[in-house]
Amino acid sequence: MLRLTAGVGVGLLFIVGPVSDLYRSSMGTARVAVTTVLWISFVALYVLTMRAGYRLRLGPRATLVFIAALLVLPIVMLSLGAPGSFAILFVYFVAAAGMRLRADAALVIVVATAVGVGIAATATGSKGDAVASYVLVIVAIGTMMTAFNRQIRVNRELQAARHELARFAVTDERLRIARDLHDLLGHSLSVINLKSELAAKLIETDAKRAAAELADVQAVGRQALAEVREAVQGYRQLALVDALAGAQSALAAAGIAYEVDGAQVRLPADVDEVFAWAVREGTTNVLRHSGAAHCAVRISDRAGEATLVVEDDGAASSQAAPAGSGLAGLSERAARLRGRLEAGPRPDGGFRLQLVVPVSQ
Ligand SMILES: Nc1ncnc2c1ncn2[C@@H]1O[C@H](COP(=O)(O)OP(=O)(O)OP(=O)(O)O)[C@@H](O)[C@H]1O
Ligand SMILES: [Mg+2]
Repeated sequence: MLRLTAGVGVGLLFIVGPVSDLYRSSMGTARVAVTTVLWISFVALYVLTMRAGYRLRLGPRATLVFIAALLVLPIVMLSLGAPGSFAILFVYFVAAAGMRLRADAALVIVVATAVGVGIAATATGSKGDAVASYVLVIVAIGTMMTAFNRQIRVNRELQAARHELARFAVTDERLRIARDLHDLLGHSLSVINLKSELAAKLIETDAKRAAAELADVQAVGRQALAEVREAVQGYRQLALVDALAGAQSALAAAGIAYEVDGAQVRLPADVDEVFAWAVREGTTNVLRHSGAAHCAVRISDRAGEATLVVEDDGAASSQAAPAGSGLAGLSERAARLRGRLEAGPRPDGGFRLQLVVPVSQ
């Protein structure tokens, strides 16, 4: 901003010369006075046009009007009989056009102005080298300002793109933390709930089992705390074997029979992790929503596709399941690996969750 102001100021040094020529010319006083007013208007319009976009906001139409005025004013001054050195004002006109207009339009204006000034200066008897220097300076300054303006625009776009990328990264990370926390806490709190309810029921009749359940509650609480810390710090890695073991313990506490098929299947690390999250959310849903007596988990890896199924024989409603965060989060995790999630009531009763992820051979 300061640099631009300084640049505009230095640029204006060359605009003073014609004024001293004006006072040395043989023009009448009235014409000199009118030309001086027009010259002052020109300088003011030029400064406003160059600095527009900083403190001053100029709409596209106002910009065009300002730039047109920067062309008309010198023509009027020269028609009033101002000295030939006033042709330098056309250099300021092309500089403003280069700075404020689209590059293609600005270049057309630069060329047209150079040709126009060249023809007019020759016709009014300017010497060949003076004409050549006007034309050259117009072309040089006009194209330079056009390139400069382009550079400024590209820089702005680059900066905007960088901000956008940073914003995406933040949103992505926020979603990851939300998903991880949901899936971790949803599971742990369900297990804690279940086991403390069980302990409360057992405390009168079987104090020993109640104590064992409470010890489990403590262990799950401690583990949840550690997992939440890891999730927030971003190095939480869930393993399928651990998720299967956790599911077994939680379902057993709820008195739900549990069977696993394919626990030995070896999967790539990213698929293993998504399956682990799916087992966790799937079995937590069985605990919370199904009222099932039996839950089966099946893992397979065939024909370039790894498949995980979690199903139960509960009383899932045949209505379309209301969208919760759990299945939506799983869907997102699957989509990141170009996989797909299907979840819903089974035709013969119970609920079925199936996750299919492509695996490169
Ligand atoms: N095993 C299941 N048995 C019966 N209904 C289920 C089962 N799993 C999911 N659902 C139904 O699907 C819905 C969506 O599940 P989802 O896991 O997305 O959300 P939620 O468990 O309700 O809440 P959240 O997981 O966000 O805490 C559930 O509310 C429930 O109605
Ligand atoms: Mg859920």
